[in-house]
Amino acid sequence: MAQNWSPTSWREKPISQVPDYPDADALKATEKRLAGFPPLVFAGEARRLKKALAGVAEGNGFLLQGGDCAESFAEHGADQIRDFFRAFLQMAVVLTFGAQQPVVKIGRIAGQFAKPRSSPNETQNGVSLPSYRGDIINGIEFNEESRVPNPERQVMAYRQSAATLNLLRAFAMGGYANLENVHQWMLGFVKDSPQAERYRKLAARISETMDFMRAIGISSESNPSLRETDFFTSHEALLLGYEEALTRVDSTSGDWYATSGHMIWIGDRTRQPDHAHVEYCRGIKNPIGLKCGPSMTADGLLELIDILNPANEPGRLTLIARFGHDKVAEHLPRLIRAVEREGRKVVWSCDPMHGNTVTLNNYKTRPFERILSEVESFFQIHRAEGTHPGGIHIEMTGNDVTECTGGARAVSADNLSDRYHTHCDPRLNADQALELAFLLAERMKSGRDEKKMAVNA
Ligand code: TRP
Ligand code: MN
Repeated sequence: MAQNWSPTSWREKPISQVPDYPDADALKATEKRLAGFPPLVFAGEARRLKKALAGVAEGNGFLLQGGDCAESFAEHGADQIRDFFRAFLQMAVVLTFGAQQPVVKIGRIAGQFAKPRSSPNETQNGVSLPSYRGDIINGIEFNEESRVPNPERQVMAYRQSAATLNLLRAFAMGGYANLENVHQWMLGFVKDSPQAERYRKLAARISETMDFMRAIGISSESNPSLRETDFFTSHEALLLGYEEALTRVDSTSGDWYATSGHMIWIGDRTRQPDHAHVEYCRGIKNPIGLKCGPSMTADGLLELIDILNPANEPGRLTLIARFGHDKVAEHLPRLIRAVEREGRKVVWSCDPMHGNTVTLNNYKTRPFERILSEVESFFQIHRAEGTHPGGIHIEMTGNDVTECTGGARAVSADNLSDRYHTHCDPRLNADQALELAFLLAERMKSGRDEKKMAVNA
């Protein structure tokens, strides 16, 4: 394998999932423009995230990563971003309380626009058109014009990412995420759900603790860690021309960083070790995610780890397991054992969404009980192997959608059509996301209690 890496070296490699841009010159001109735009994130922030993830790899901390399957140009508004952030903060607080460990917070947001597709074409009523590949590439509307890949969309995605990130930074650092607001993060439609009562109880305990701390001189005014939170962004690094244009040298270290987001990941369909996506990712210093599906072999995984994290740096690599509720027990243990045997430092995260997609009434959906079941197995397997269940990777929204079936307020197959808004895969609504967070918190708490008992025995 070639040792010399550059932001363009991926262009020499085989590549899949590339859109067919009809105008190569226009594409080139757009990439050149993008290369002159300011970075969206700074290298120092990516390093800070890597450090936080290193803690998780070492068994101290939990990664919460979530957001839309695909962001869209049409649904870009302040309320949308705020509601997502509220649901996310609620989950984070529940998890922090349950794990009694730091929660590393990463959104699938501010750059999650490009989608790999199982088929290059989509046929409706006998008409066949190029598949929708995400708003950064073409339009979702089923007509010829909208499905033509248009480079100008990359500029739109960049600008939307900048605006989204700007608001998220303001929320994270400007007071909205202050733990004193813990009661206010509840979304209207969650207020009368079974999760609401549990959340209120937990929020009341946190408030009480905050009052106590204030009395002894520790307040959010004097203590930024109560008032602020580190929130990071991530997306699948699929559209490599866009990624290349935003790849910059960090002047303090001389290293290359992807500045399109703090963390980027490699999809299960584009992780061939000698292909373009792996080539691109190996040369940048950001934290990297690698999706692992049922076709991942132990040797294949070790080969990828060698390429992507040759220095065995903790925090560099997060393995995102996405097997399906009925396959996780077959595949996860063999991969964990290979990684352990070779002493590789990774974060193990569970994506319980992508292996559990089914079609019901012509809707792509995911039964909530299968999502929970994959999460349960993930925890059990890690307990049995003596490894750290490090995180969760989910598709979620702050909106009251009906895209995944089940949950405490049971969305049925017939309800799916009520508010099915996703541009791609079905997401957990805020209610289901909160329910999942409570389940995770319980598992982490019982994991802790077990450890304590072992220590005291
Ligand atoms: N700064 C801490 C953290 O991010 C505590 C914190 C502040 C927090 N606001 C939060 C935790 C909101 C969860 C959610 O972990
Ligand atoms: Mn998806």
